[in-house]
Amino acid sequence: MLGIFKWISKIGEIMSDDEIVKSEVKIYHPSEDIIKLANVKEYEETYKRSITDPEGFWGEQAETLSWYKKWDKVLDDSKKPFFKWFVGGKTNIVHNAIDRHLTTATRNKLAFIWEGEPGDTRTFSYHALNREVSKMANIVKSMGIRKGDIVTIYMPQIPELIFAMLACAKIGAAHSVVYAGFSSKALKDRIEDAKSKLLITADGGWRRGKIVDLKNIVNDALEDSPTIEKSIVVKRTCQDVDMVTERDFWYHELEKEPFASKPCQTEVMDAEDMLFILYTSGTTGRPKGVLHTHGGYSLYTSTVHRMVFDIKDEDRWWCLADPGWITGHSFIVYAPLINGTTTMLYEGAPTYPNPDRIWEMVDKYGVNVFYTSPTAVRGFMRFGDSWVKQHDLSTLRLLGSVGEPINPAAWEWYYNVVGGARCPIMDTWWQTETGGFMISPYPITPLKPGSATRPLFGIAADVIREDGTSTDPDEEGILVIKAPWPGMARTIMGDDARYKDVYWSDYEKQGWYKAGDSARKDADGYIWVIARLDDVLKVSGYRLGTAEVESALVSHEKVAESAVIGLPHELRGNAIHAFCILAEGNTASSDLEKEIKEHVRDELGPIAVPEKINFVNTLPKTRSGKIMRRVLKAKALGQDPGDLSTIED
Ligand code: WT7
Repeated sequence: MLGIFKWISKIGEIMSDDEIVKSEVKIYHPSEDIIKLANVKEYEETYKRSITDPEGFWGEQAETLSWYKKWDKVLDDSKKPFFKWFVGGKTNIVHNAIDRHLTTATRNKLAFIWEGEPGDTRTFSYHALNREVSKMANIVKSMGIRKGDIVTIYMPQIPELIFAMLACAKIGAAHSVVYAGFSSKALKDRIEDAKSKLLITADGGWRRGKIVDLKNIVNDALEDSPTIEKSIVVKRTCQDVDMVTERDFWYHELEKEPFASKPCQTEVMDAEDMLFILYTSGTTGRPKGVLHTHGGYSLYTSTVHRMVFDIKDEDRWWCLADPGWITGHSFIVYAPLINGTTTMLYEGAPTYPNPDRIWEMVDKYGVNVFYTSPTAVRGFMRFGDSWVKQHDLSTLRLLGSVGEPINPAAWEWYYNVVGGARCPIMDTWWQTETGGFMISPYPITPLKPGSATRPLFGIAADVIREDGTSTDPDEEGILVIKAPWPGMARTIMGDDARYKDVYWSDYEKQGWYKAGDSARKDADGYIWVIARLDDVLKVSGYRLGTAEVESALVSHEKVAESAVIGLPHELRGNAIHAFCILAEGNTASSDLEKEIKEHVRDELGPIAVPEKINFVNTLPKTRSGKIMRRVLKAKALGQDPGDLSTIED
């Protein structure tokens, strides 16, 4: 399994494992200016201490937050792998993200700057944010939502999405944000799993100059979502939409109710109370609701954000991601607000109306730290340097990358063209399940393009062989985390057994977390994440299970069987390729390929549509009937398929 992953060195060019190891790696050292500013001045000693005395280390860090009541114990590991952090502590993430700023100078600082795709803008100070969140919280409460309920949020990237998340947290309800690119079927499945009574949505959002008609998608989903009693609808795009009486309520009308503008108390929560669930793909078709909590998540996200991106009081921080994914949850919304930073949110497509939309905004708002994905970088790179160079990007100090390994060619372009060879790139490896960055440079770390460098403080990351021994330098192995950390997911909602099985069962005796990635560690201890080990694909940095796409494919009446693999793609990192066996009596055609692609779009959403569908007569399977995707992949790449002894035919 391990041997077949290849590294894309330059766009389109694939290097073999040997070439990667042997090729010269250029090291980039931070400048004196960067070192002088750095919040983290030293790595080795602090790292060692954080690993030998994690409770001491995290206990100290936790003093940077406000607590209604301090914890009795930093870590409770009596029920492994169900770890508890800051046991007995009382807090609320909103207490740290908003309330505590209202009594300091931060109150009048911009909490966030929003720009719509058509160019409309709205800005909110912390004072104003508190008013908006309190209003939304009162309204959510008026819909019968109480502490412990789960509210589903399906919204475009508008300020009310942030208000909705914070409003739920404020009253002790958990949110489940469903990415607005998902289909009505995917939305329905997630509502059902969370048993939400309330949905917060909007009429639509702007994308590439067009309206994405969210309300229509919602109406479809709600036809078959019996748990939903009410929905709140924010007006954004103003087209005609169907509102269902007694179920759907316009936000702008509710806002005018006298109760809405009353002050709203932030609910006192246990550190371990549920903050949100967020669905992510795994190896089976059923998405997992990854659960995070108020205490540990607040501490972990804000600590890594402050340390890795060297956050200063006067900084403008821009994480170009969708709040509907963990990157947006942690680093558009929660961590920056806890740190009292000015954070940005942009509604639309990053290259609309022109390829320089993002650089225009960096210039206009004087952004200091910019964080995005390799896919986005490759997308910008495709349009050439001139779109970047037209703008004054001299305010930028640090850059960041997340979502998949960044290929060195994209790294160099990002560094030289966007960062003016001045801004170190923080390549952050982490996952929905980890809450925040895990392996990443600090600004003082010498960089090697394509490596997320070393584990952050408190993170016992290692690369091991299947037998649990550590790999030798440059030997490919399995990425594990050997000790718990405060930002870790607590479980999969409603399925403790699955949580244990997926992440903890392989190294149960040792108590190690299996991340599901392959990696290698070089002689300097730098970790190079290679790819997923399981049947999970990273397409444009989005995570998709092969099983999800396969079940969408076979739900088409003409498809009998299917297998899905990821193949290297210039822009997207990986592209989905599907192999389908047609049901009796059907013939392959390009029209049928189109029809099946459309069907996947309806079932899952645009991100899951295969690049290519190959019609085949058989699929390689093990004798027990498991599809051998690695064989399909090796064949497609013209590589040796490896051990075929278990193949049936
Ligand atoms: C998977 C997690 C965490 C936010 C975005 C994705 C891959 C993520 C990197 C990186 C190499 C990376 C891994 C990981 N990944 N960041 N810097 N270098 N690979 O979150 O959807 O939960 O996906 O993304 O494969 O396991 P996610």
